[in-house]
Amino acid sequence: MRAIVSAPTQPYRIEFRDVPEPEPSRDEALVAARAVSLNRGNFRRLAWEAEGWCPGYDVAGEVVRMAADGSGPAVGARVAGIVPSGAWAERVAVPIRRLALIPEPVSFAAAAAIPVAGLTSLLALAHGGILLGKRVLITGAAGGVGRAAVQLAWLAGARVTAQVSRPERGQGLAALGAEEVVTRLEDAASTFDLAIESVGGALLAQVLARMAPGGTLVSIGASSDEATTFDVLALVRRGAISLYAMSLFQEMERQGAGSRELDTLLGLIAERRLDPQIDLQRSWQEMGPMLAALGERAVAGKAIAIVD
Ligand SMILES: NC(=O)c1ccc[n+]([C@@H]2O[C@H](COP(=O)([O-])OP(=O)(O)OC[C@H]3O[C@@H](n4cnc5c(N)ncnc54)[C@H](OP(=O)(O)O)[C@@H]3O)[C@@H](O)[C@H]2O)c1
Repeated sequence: MRAIVSAPTQPYRIEFRDVPEPEPSRDEALVAARAVSLNRGNFRRLAWEAEGWCPGYDVAGEVVRMAADGSGPAVGARVAGIVPSGAWAERVAVPIRRLALIPEPVSFAAAAAIPVAGLTSLLALAHGGILLGKRVLITGAAGGVGRAAVQLAWLAGARVTAQVSRPERGQGLAALGAEEVVTRLEDAASTFDLAIESVGGALLAQVLARMAPGGTLVSIGASSDEATTFDVLALVRRGAISLYAMSLFQEMERQGAGSRELDTLLGLIAERRLDPQIDLQRSWQEMGPMLAALGERAVAGKAIAIVD
């Protein structure tokens, strides 16, 4: 089968190659991919992964072989799922516990936009407990995770502040539920009960300084690639502030999350209460230029590659 693999000497560090079909475990379905998504994590890993590694977390497609243990969707079912690697391929083995049926009105492209962005947002927001009326900050809000997190926080009743790098990157965020869109945290109306932080560097320190007592900062990454220095004593004096570092695949195991949460997210898309925020959609033949666009921060939301 054809797959996109890392090829450090090639333009965009990828190439199409014929690779062996995946051999599903007993609890995995084999899915013929129809759409896959790009995530910043894929882009970052391609900078250092060895030759031949197959990227891709999000896949939407049709089941071509049911799980051998008899669980999960039957052949022909439209499904979306998440894998730690290998989704940018014609066929993908997906564990049943991380697979959900796609409701009829939802396209493969829309479904492929949701596993990483939606599950990361949902599981990070869970650290804020009941969100009704709480002040929630989402940094990197113009991106794929950011746009999902703004919507899900708003749906949960939070008062959402969205942080973006430049005013023009804030376009559309108010319509998704952001009460305020800021480029500088000083401009935010209040401190935060919960923050979903993905930029790292100096911004992480600024967010820590603006957490309300009892608040939780969930750090999910560092798109800036910068280290953070922060004033520990100032934080200690305010007291009871939690910093939680979250990695999605570990967190899914920890919270026992997967299919059920994916099912919820896909249901919200079907009901038009969650928008997948697809900003760029092309054939997977154009994966290289799409990766470049993601790297240049030229995508506002999700980039989706159609497997054709
Ligand atoms: N912990 C986990 O398991 C997990 C899961 C998913 C994602 N992540 C991480 O979360 C982050 C967001 O992921 P994503 O897929 O939403 O990425 P994305 O779509 O590329 O969005 C990243 C956003 O970060 C902002 N940003 C600020 N400084 C940046 C810089 N120096 N370089 C690049 N972006 C910068 C950009 O803001 P502007 O548009 O305003 O410029 C952009 O909108 C990434 O770091 C990713 O690796 C972690």
